[in-house]
Amino acid sequence: MPAIARNVAALRAALAEYRGSGERIALVPTMGALHGGHMALVDAARAAAERTVASIFINPTQFAPTEDLAAYPQSEAEDLRKLAEAGVDLVFMPDAGEVYGEGFATSVSVAGPGTGLESAARSHFFTGVATVVAKLLLQCLPDAATFGEKDYQQLQVVRRMVRDLDIPCEILAIPTVREADGLACSSRNAYLTPAERGVAAHLFECLQATAQRLRDGGAVIAEIEHGMRHLQEAGFDTVDYLALCDGESLEALSELRDGARLLAAVRLGNTRLIDNLAV
Ligand code: PAJ
Repeated sequence: MPAIARNVAALRAALAEYRGSGERIALVPTMGALHGGHMALVDAARAAAERTVASIFINPTQFAPTEDLAAYPQSEAEDLRKLAEAGVDLVFMPDAGEVYGEGFATSVSVAGPGTGLESAARSHFFTGVATVVAKLLLQCLPDAATFGEKDYQQLQVVRRMVRDLDIPCEILAIPTVREADGLACSSRNAYLTPAERGVAAHLFECLQATAQRLRDGGAVIAEIEHGMRHLQEAGFDTVDYLALCDGESLEALSELRDGARLLAAVRLGNTRLIDNLAV
């Protein structure tokens, strides 16, 4: 079993021992309910450093009041078993009081890549993410930290923040892990009914088809409209966005360029799904 730290003092004591032996440290931030995507981050972290630390913290500040924080899936025992099997050395599992002590008054807000897309539907989301990720990076001061391309805008927000605040940590981007039919692994997939699960796979299929049409020279505005119709016809209840963006700044593009990325968010019943693809 990995060692468990439930507060920052215990975390830092364990990390000091690793550092004392000259070992590099890689951090894998998560909210638990671990699946294949998370485990790919763990594998990459293990390859990048001698010691791997995973954090499990369901961060309340990145949930809107309308989103059911209390219903977020939790599976501590199962998560610990998976992390043990994957060779994680230390798991940081603070409670909300440890992370946001009395009088907590600071937030990290990232403009640029943090604007639009996910922010349009969830205005405080990236401030919640950036604040907690900044804290985790400063608590751990890892040599490297892994983030999934599945949450592509989050990855760019974290990269921007680390650069802007001179946080001395290398951010490693890990490709999206998918189910056999292409649906990106996500803790939220557990909310889907069997019928919704059938529809969900069309999200990746639509991204692939739209990316191909753009590569074949299709006009951006026309292909985005075509893709949105494709998603509606496939059975998604709402398409929040389907957009072609610069892969780093995430500014919307009206013409294809190197590094462009297609990003999409859809709703299916009560579940919101996001995915993205390099074009
Ligand atoms: P969570 O949703 O648990 O995801 C933790 C990490 O796993 C993120 O970097 C995410 O991009 C990555 N991930 C999720 N699904 C993936 C998949 N199918 N393939 C590859 N990577 C995947 O994202 C968060 O938690 C939180 O916002 C957090 C960064 C921990 C801050 O609270």
